[in-house]
This record gives sequence, structure tokens and C-alpha cells, in this order.
Amino acid sequence: MLGRLIKLRTLIDSRGGLAFAESHHDVPFEIKRVYYIFNLDQERKRGEHAHKKLKQLMICVKGSCKVLLRDADSSFEHHLKEPTVGLLVEEPLWREMYGFSEDCVFLVLANEYYDESDYIRDYEEYVNFMKIDENL
Ligand code: TYD
Repeated sequence: MLGRLIKLRTLIDSRGGLAFAESHHDVPFEIKRVYYIFNLDQERKRGEHAHKKLKQLMICVKGSCKVLLRDADSSFEHHLKEPTVGLLVEEPLWREMYGFSEDCVFLVLANEYYDESDYIRDYEEYVNFMKIDENL
């Protein structure tokens, strides 16, 4: 498997559910940024990039979607459909998100502020980056 699934601490009672994540306790990094995507086009992909350093916890807080994680050798498709499960991506993996349900809200907790220079948006470039990384 690529990426790691984390079960979030969750409290459920007759009023409903509450799930939470704290820096270092539930998520193995300091959370500096939160973003979410919503009203998604069900026919189109998001992502299609890798991050050189960024660490993320991805949570499909409503609905469902698929997340494909890929490195230079293998790939793994996750089907996220639980608001209490996060997908931890700490390595520079290529990621693609697709197959969004109509109601999907996809939340990401990240350890850094937005930085375009941390993105690799071309898969060939990503494979080369991983080769260089291996040789360091
Ligand atoms: P991007 O990460 O490419 O989105 P996706 O992978 O879902 O397609 O981000 C799209 C644009 O949004 C990007 O060019 C800049 C902007 N953006 C921010 O300004 N801050 C953020 O935290 C994020 C995630 C994106």
C-alpha cells in the first residue's frame, strides 16, 4: 500500500458524530494549513501532481472519492468514504483524485503553507526527481 490510513478519534452519541485530529497526537506533523475542495466535477480529476516535501492528511469528510497514489514503481488506489478515516501521505508520491460523489467534500490538513515551488506537475519530472532523491 502507498500512503497510510489513520482512524481518527471519534465520538458518536445520539446527537451525531464528532471526529478530531490534533497536531502530533493524531497527525504526525504540525498542521499549518487546512483546505478543502467541494462542488466537484464528477467527470474530472484533481491533483495530478506530487509534492517534494509537503505532508498531508486527506479526509473525505462527506461523500466519497478515490485517491490514486503512485511512485516510480507502483501505484495504489484508495477509496475514501468515511469521515473518520484520514489518508496520510508523507512521501513525495504522485497523487490523483477522482470518482467524486456529488456531495463530496475533501479536506486536507497540511504541514506547510501553500508553496507552488514544492509542486511537481509533470509525471516524467516526478520520476526524475525520485531518481535524484534515491541517489542522495
Ligand atoms: P492545486 O493544488 O493544483 O489543486 P488540485 O490538486 O485540487 O487540482 O491548486 C489549484 C490552485 O489553487 C493553485 O494553482 C493555487 C491555489 N491554491 C492556493 O492558493 N492555496 C492552497 O492551499 C491550495 C491547495 C491551492
